[in-house]
Amino acid sequence: MGYRVVIPAAGQGKRMGASKNKLLLELRGVPIFIHTLNVFQRDSACEGIYLAINPAEEKEISRLIAEHGIDKVKAYISGGQERQHSISNVIRELTGEGIVLVHDAARPFVEQEHIDQLVSQAQCNDGAILAVPVKDTIKKGRDGLVEETIDRSRLWSVQTPQAFKLSILQAAYEKAQEDHFVGTDDASLVERVHNKIAFVQGNYDNIKLTTPEDLYFAEAILNKRDDFI
Ligand code: CTP
Ligand code: MG
Repeated sequence: MGYRVVIPAAGQGKRMGASKNKLLLELRGVPIFIHTLNVFQRDSACEGIYLAINPAEEKEISRLIAEHGIDKVKAYISGGQERQHSISNVIRELTGEGIVLVHDAARPFVEQEHIDQLVSQAQCNDGAILAVPVKDTIKKGRDGLVEETIDRSRLWSVQTPQAFKLSILQAAYEKAQEDHFVGTDDASLVERVHNKIAFVQGNYDNIKLTTPEDLYFAEAILNKRDDFI
């Protein structure tokens, strides 16, 4: 079953503290976002990549995409203020039906088997999201004092990709806009309208490169993958 993927890449990478968008930083000589796009370039089920970008970076991004032989990018769409606005700008341009994945450009380590599971789960549910069980003990606090310890047995730490039928995603985004609701992931918008979103258990390697130390973790993940080849 085919799918399209929406990739938000229009952030500034402030927490990375680099002098440019973190997605342009290189891992083993290849920009982070190219690592991410390559996963979908290689997946024969992926029918098109739709990128949200900062227009000021379009020239550089499209040059790098061409240089790395990626030919599945169907559109470059201007991003917005927040991630949600960037994705909203993209999905309102999509037509037709079928499954759409939303995946952060800043998560280059997503694995093929999980993409396959998300696509198939999104067909028989209202959506499907990649997640891992929470490992830390989580407490709720107020004014510097512990209020309670949350039972972590049912808590998940949520990643991307998140997969939905296009019509469900578009309707959820429209409703969020009407209600001025801003969520921290795509599923939180869909959850306001639907209640059957499936977890697909992923792995702890699928990190989002956010702060400088994540670059060391990224090197370690790449080294681990070499060991398996
Ligand atoms: N993103 C986007 N449009 C925005 C903000 C973020 O397309 N207005 C994208 C980022 O490029 C990234 C993904 O959403 O691929 C996840 O966001 P995050 O990791 O927070 O990246 P940044 O917003 O770039 O980083 P920061 O929050 O540290 O500035
Ligand atoms: Mg951000």
